[in-house]
Amino acid sequence: MIRIGAMVSGGGTNLQAVLDAIDAGKIDGQVVTVVSSKEGAYAIERAAKHNIPSVVISKKDYPNGGFEKALIDHFKSMNVDLIILAGYMTILGEEFIKAFENKIMNIHPALIPSFCGDGFYGLRVHEKALEYGVKVSGATIHFVNEKADAGAIILQGTVDVANDETPESLQKKIMENVEWKLLPKAVSLFCEDRISIKDGKAYVDLKD
Ligand code: GAR
Repeated sequence: MIRIGAMVSGGGTNLQAVLDAIDAGKIDGQVVTVVSSKEGAYAIERAAKHNIPSVVISKKDYPNGGFEKALIDHFKSMNVDLIILAGYMTILGEEFIKAFENKIMNIHPALIPSFCGDGFYGLRVHEKALEYGVKVSGATIHFVNEKADAGAIILQGTVDVANDETPESLQKKIMENVEWKLLPKAVSLFCEDRISIKDGKAYVDLKD
């Protein structure tokens, strides 16, 4: 059974989608720990409802360094095989990423390589996509490497952008139609060992 660690910062609807898929028997894995970047994130309550222990590990509590080591120590002590960034809003450094190479998955609410990288998170991503005037947008699940939103792409899905779209409506549309389906699917593929990496690209075995 694959042991999954989740990192969250907010509402945790993507975490919920993964927990629901596990409950429905669609993922051969188990979320064993939830790490929040801040106190009070609703995602912590979602974990508690599933009897999953959570802990707050916040960068601001490590002004003299040691944040990444605290994260590494925690996930190693929990023996995790996969870490999912499910709406996690803190940039992670090389030390952490190297410790879990090709084992950290992120969900980004746009079609990478558009509208991604430093400063592109949450609603801002959708504001920028609408400002540009794109006609489709979507979400991307990718492995995390040392550059923001630049790791190997695992899955992408799209939605059409309506003429009267707002950042809020686009965010909702992408979450409901893409993110909540794609993240559980990518986690399931990982748990079934159906994702391989070659020359920095991910290849997914999508049979059945
Ligand atoms: C989601 O839309 C996710 O794609 C985005 O934040 C939201 C979190 O929602 N993530 C990022 O912007 C990361 N760069 P949730 O807490 O309800 O899952």
